[in-house]
Amino acid sequence: MTILVTGGAGFIGSNFVLDWLAQSDETLVNLDALTYAGNLDNLASLNGDARHVFVKGDIGDAALVAQLLATYEPRALVNFAAESHVDRSILGPADFIHTNILGTFQLLEAVRAYWHTLEGHAKAAFRFLHVSTDEVYGSLSLSDPAFTERHRYEPNSPYSASKAASDHLVRAYHHTYGLPVLTTNCSNNYGPFHFPEKLIPLCIHNALAGKPLPIYGDGQQIRDWLYVTDHCSAIRRVLEAGQLGETYNVGGWNEKPNLEVVQVLCSILDELSPAASGRSYAEQINFVTDRPGHDRRYAIDATKLERELGWRPLETFETGIRKTVSWYLDNQAWVQNVTSGAYRDWVGTQYSAAKPLIEEA
Ligand code: NAD
Ligand code: TYD
Repeated sequence: MTILVTGGAGFIGSNFVLDWLAQSDETLVNLDALTYAGNLDNLASLNGDARHVFVKGDIGDAALVAQLLATYEPRALVNFAAESHVDRSILGPADFIHTNILGTFQLLEAVRAYWHTLEGHAKAAFRFLHVSTDEVYGSLSLSDPAFTERHRYEPNSPYSASKAASDHLVRAYHHTYGLPVLTTNCSNNYGPFHFPEKLIPLCIHNALAGKPLPIYGDGQQIRDWLYVTDHCSAIRRVLEAGQLGETYNVGGWNEKPNLEVVQVLCSILDELSPAASGRSYAEQINFVTDRPGHDRRYAIDATKLERELGWRPLETFETGIRKTVSWYLDNQAWVQNVTSGAYRDWVGTQYSAAKPLIEEA
């Protein structure tokens, strides 16, 4: 048996690949274009492991995907491949349209053609699982109930709009063609191999480098944080037992304002790796101009996944964030490799435009 994973060299995808192969002897074919966010270092522990077949390529390359499907005859496809960073989508949405919308469309077309060639049990058992985000639902006020799967789609950034479009395509391929699809909409992930352009790894990296910790606006935007391996276990569970055509919200029941997240990070760093100056890392917090169209609050109601499939996260924010900080402290070589090259160019562009609201002392 084989599964095909796309985007398996990125943050969540690589955690999924590692977790999958730690629990199963099934071959896993990993199709990834290795954009700036794809990093084979994440999968270095699999070097020489014949169960992991890495293929560099674009999900929008219909011929390549068709060839992989025909060659490996996977029983399932899990689609992580995407452009995933909201700030990048604001500065340049084109790549998001290319991969998240057109790429997902091409992938669906290739899978539809392949699925039609299957028969009997192989056809009935095949699954296409699309990994999506809570950001498709838009923004909540403080008093609104958390997003359920019935919440209307109200995406506000080019990133979330492109993911919303891909979700709609996946849904349509089920209703129109009967393709056996499943969709998961997850809240903000954190954990090992998280690219240091996102809030948590960026702030760990900057804190240790003695740089400012950029907080957009007033830092009171709320995200619902989920430790990445809990997301991976939710995907495995949905793949195993989800109802065809259904969507499942995945969340950690961990709503936190950004400022609090960064303060917690700083206090763990103060304890585990105190600054030579003797000062708290929290002194490096720096309020900068807000992200345009910044969503105020996301919150996931993951009741359906618990009620129907018995899934709950194992980590609390407190346990997960401590593991995450420890992982970054233990894996500074990984961070150094990532922070060379394209990532440095991005940081220069993004944060030269984001002016500090309070000048550093
Ligand atoms: P990431 O940016 O870290 O990784 C994306 C991966 O996809 C990279 O390895 C990249 O090389 C690959 N990729 C990009 N374009 C491709 C293409 N055209 N063809 C093949 N591969 C391509 O993203 P992530 O944070 O790991 O997110 C994975 C998925 O989970 C995305 O679909 C994202 O929308 C979704 N998601 C992410 C979060 C989060 O907090 N990070 C939360 C919910 C859902
Ligand atoms: P991010 O990690 O980019 O994820 P997303 O935008 O998908 O939620 O950002 C998480 C939150 O942190 C979001 O509200 C934006 C905020 N943020 C900052 O305040 N400063 C930063 O430098 C970054 C990257 C994010």
